[in-house]
Amino acid sequence: MLRRHFIPSAALALAAPAPAADDDAGWLKIRQDHFSLPDWRAYLNTGSVGATPNRVVKATNDYLAKGASYATDEYPRWGYEPMETHRTALAKYLGTSMAELALTHNATESMSLIVNGLDLKPGDEVLMTDQEHPSGRGAWQLKQDRAGIRLREARIPIPPKTPEELIEAILSQVRPETRVLSFSAITTHTGLLFPVKQICEAARAKGLITVVDGAHMPGQIPFRIDDLGCDAFAGSLHKWMLTPPGTGVLYVRGDFQSKLWPTIVVEGWRTAKDALKYMQLGCNNRAELEGVLEALRLIEELGPQRIYDRIHHLAQYTYSRAIQVPYLKVLTSPNPQLYGGMVAFEVDRPDYTPLWNKLAQRKVWTLRANKIRISSHIHTRRSDIDLFFDTLKEVYG
Ligand SMILES: Cc1ncc(COP(=O)(O)O)c(C=O)c1O
Repeated sequence: MLRRHFIPSAALALAAPAPAADDDAGWLKIRQDHFSLPDWRAYLNTGSVGATPNRVVKATNDYLAKGASYATDEYPRWGYEPMETHRTALAKYLGTSMAELALTHNATESMSLIVNGLDLKPGDEVLMTDQEHPSGRGAWQLKQDRAGIRLREARIPIPPKTPEELIEAILSQVRPETRVLSFSAITTHTGLLFPVKQICEAARAKGLITVVDGAHMPGQIPFRIDDLGCDAFAGSLHKWMLTPPGTGVLYVRGDFQSKLWPTIVVEGWRTAKDALKYMQLGCNNRAELEGVLEALRLIEELGPQRIYDRIHHLAQYTYSRAIQVPYLKVLTSPNPQLYGGMVAFEVDRPDYTPLWNKLAQRKVWTLRANKIRISSHIHTRRSDIDLFFDTLKEVYG
């Protein structure tokens, strides 16, 4: 019974033009045609790791099989080669140049490559926010213990009401000893979308190095890395971009590459052209990258803006339901400009265990921390969100 759900049925369906944001029946068909999610699963945790469409799974598996046969003369790997075709396709989608984009496995790795690659002196200050993911904060803490840098956190108002409030919360904390500003474009627990471009612009005007943890950006919201104006950007693809797990990117601005050391290298790194020097990590599984190319094709067929419109439409629906529940403290901004596909809240109850247990019974999967975060993607049904709120009501009234 279970097994049936793991075998893609309409594995190779070509995507018709995507439905309008509120066309639930149209999007249900996309779910049925393109995903192997069983009907009984309400998967609301794309923010941790996304669901991979059947076509992408197939492209990945096919390449793995082809590589295993050595029927071609090509290594079935990446980790040494420049992978220009793959980087060029990704760079086009992400709005930057191939020369500034390196392939990695995830945002965690990209953040560590950025942090470890920077020359900072004891006493240099890195300003973060109090909303950072452990991957970003952990990397900077390692640098603190090892290199004697100072870390400071700007307190972010939750929920914020305007982009200006966020710009002020960060920029007001810059001091003469601050060298680096490192912040998440979309926060992990609260799903808050920062006005990244304005913040980077202001920080660069103050002479700061700007590092953006953009783990949630690729595939969740339309944007161009070049427009952000940051020095370095860490992204995961496997959350929102419909790619196989273990796929990420590191962007390093062209004129910043001479200031960022690579961390994992092979001989030849001194002369490696462009961002290639950050991605020579040794033998890796190229099949995943064929999956990335297939995900890009699917996104192109559906239309990136249409995808975003649906994701955001459902997030707005989640928000509208959450604010009606008196015992929820909604952490998401009432301003829809300040979130994309994630809505978060706390429950005013001391123990979440009965809720987690009931959600597990109902096969509703959200982020389970000391906050609840609901992610919506194109496979999300409005009824999945309703099921979450019905379960909440059943548990807490
Ligand atoms: C803001 C942020 N940064 C980094 C990460 C780490 O992502 P990954 O596990 O894909 O490296 C996450 C994961 O949720 C995140 O929310």
